[in-house]
Amino acid sequence: MNAEAIRTRAVAMMTGKPEPPCEPGYRLHHGQRVETLALEIAEREKLDVCRERLAIGALVHDIGKPGCAKSESHAVKGAEIVRSDFADLMDAEELEAVAQIVLHHYDRPNSIWFEGKEKPEWTPDILLVQDADVLDHFGVPGIWLTLHWATHKNFTPSQTITEWFTSEYMCSWRREARRSLNFQTSRRLLELRIAQMDDFFRRLK
Ligand SMILES: [Fe+2]
Ligand SMILES: [Fe+2]
Repeated sequence: MNAEAIRTRAVAMMTGKPEPPCEPGYRLHHGQRVETLALEIAEREKLDVCRERLAIGALVHDIGKPGCAKSESHAVKGAEIVRSDFADLMDAEELEAVAQIVLHHYDRPNSIWFEGKEKPEWTPDILLVQDADVLDHFGVPGIWLTLHWATHKNFTPSQTITEWFTSEYMCSWRREARRSLNFQTSRRLLELRIAQMDDFFRRLK
């Protein structure tokens, strides 16, 4: 795998891509943070994974999202992009492993979507990117996202605070994040990140 060339191409493809109501290039910034988080969880859990492959899979996990129609799956679209645009930079096995991370990053076995159904069994790479993806929606990045969203909705600070603490949308978002994680380390990190957000919105009062 030519990780440096893959990274250069992925960054070029995602830089500045419109992603309203988030900032242009949000999926690149999100992917970079998810990469750091996935590597951190793998290390803390002492998992035997290929760090290079995990890093690339995490970086590009949402490459199909900018401009993706509501009727399309950004995971399916992203896996297709990986297979078509990065085939010259990875061998066939690596390419498919990265495509699988992208394809299944949203299919979290513990999520509500698999309740009462047979849970899929994924490789550690996929499970790590799933958790890192959830975590990047909380903590300081979560504050950033929430304020973007609140501005888009024309909410006042006090409306935003009420939303964070009491709205069904936010409460179900936290509930689903808590239940869907795969690793103990991720659960600990999520609680820390939720506490950071609670503290921020309490201080904003
Ligand atoms: Fe995604
Ligand atoms: Fe994501």
